[in-house]
Amino acid sequence: MELPLSASGTTTVELARTCTRAGAALALERFRGAHTIGSKGRGNVVTETDLEVELRIKALLADEFPQHAVLSEETAAATDPSSGWVWVIDPIDGTKNYSLGIPFWCTTVALCRDGQPVAGCTYDALHDEEFWAVAAGGAWRNGARIRASDGPDVASSVIGVDLGYDDALGAAQIALMRRIFPRVQTMRILGSAALGIAYAASGRLDLFTHTNVYPWDIAAGILLVREAGGVATDRRTGEPMHLGSRAFVAGGRRVHDDFVRRYSSEQGGEPGATPG
Ligand code: IPD
Ligand code: CA
Ligand code: CA
Repeated sequence: MELPLSASGTTTVELARTCTRAGAALALERFRGAHTIGSKGRGNVVTETDLEVELRIKALLADEFPQHAVLSEETAAATDPSSGWVWVIDPIDGTKNYSLGIPFWCTTVALCRDGQPVAGCTYDALHDEEFWAVAAGGAWRNGARIRASDGPDVASSVIGVDLGYDDALGAAQIALMRRIFPRVQTMRILGSAALGIAYAASGRLDLFTHTNVYPWDIAAGILLVREAGGVATDRRTGEPMHLGSRAFVAGGRRVHDDFVRRYSSEQGGEPGATPG
């Protein structure tokens, strides 16, 4: 697919990278300072910086592609990403980590066309690691091509998970971990779904799985995994992962297939009531 150039003649992937880095630079500047923290639910926080980063990215996009829609976690969460050109933004993914000073969070931006991510970037500013991908152009980390794991099975793998903010779904993830462990090398709970997927795309994790994500957590990641030769599927339907997938498993092809074969009965469930 032919990707458009922006008003100033920038490619979409360069713009995704510029926006991600600009937003992340602001988040990094503020990281060690005091945060004003608001609550969106148990364990689910937002800082004033989430909002400022998001607005900074949206301003850059409005200058370059005023005609494109935006779906973003804090200020435009209701945009339908399934048709047309839509930029998807998570200003800080891993805000709980960020608010506590835990150095594992990122900024992530992707452009989607008719619901398909076509260019995206996930930037870990603290470690200066930029993961980016463009459709049919490969997946990269700081100038080097990345590849998903070639590991053969779950038993030889390191698997990343996250718990999300729904009690029932988080509990189901823990139950899954209990089933898997110790028939695995080890497992990690990371606290940033977007970085978790980027790590699965680059083979640091053999597999990453989550049961309660939103489009902004995964838009860039879907493309990263696909372009890195990995596989990402919806845990509830078994179909290729898409922006509407709430539960997914992503990583190297062989370990993915082994996971699905062994644990396909645990498809990620339905959201339950989360006590306030
Ligand atoms: C969250 C993080 C977390 C994951 C949650 C996400 P946020 O995003 O990625 O690791 O478990 O499901 O919502 O709120 O920090 O942007
Ligand atoms: Ca997020
Ligand atoms: Ca966020």
